[in-house]
Amino acid sequence: MTKYAAWALAGLMLTTFGNAMASPEMVRKYNCTACHAENKKKYGPTYQQVALKYANEEGVAEKLAKKIQTGGVGVWGNTPMPAQPRVTDEDALEIARYILSVK
Ligand code: HEC
Repeated sequence: MTKYAAWALAGLMLTTFGNAMASPEMVRKYNCTACHAENKKKYGPTYQQVALKYANEEGVAEKLAKKIQTGGVGVWGNTPMPAQPRVTDEDALEIARYILSVK
């Protein structure tokens, strides 16, 4: 019983820790950090600004995931965001969900 409990706990810790780490690591891996930070304005909008802007929109994670991959301009001004074709569909969606969770 204690053995199972230990495994269950280890698994739980792994998933929790894994999820918490995944997305901030991804934005570094894909070099989004060159232009974005959680709450410090750089070349692009902060993740906090993005999260606030779309706080009440439905299905917005999917929309942002597409925008992350294809880039675009005009939502935040005249500075364009270049396409990020290296980002997989799965990663784009996970990053979008993470960005929307930034408070
Ligand atoms: C060369 C600089 C640059 C890089 C690299 C970059 N971005 Fe951006 N990003 C921008 C700019 C500029 C905008 C504003 C575009 C606009 O106004 O439509 C933006 C906008 C966004 C938005 C808001 C989109 C919207 O429609 O509101 C998200 C989300 C985003 N970026 C995520 C990312 C992620 C994730 C990465 C890495 C995979 C990334 N960006 C890499 C410059 C960059």
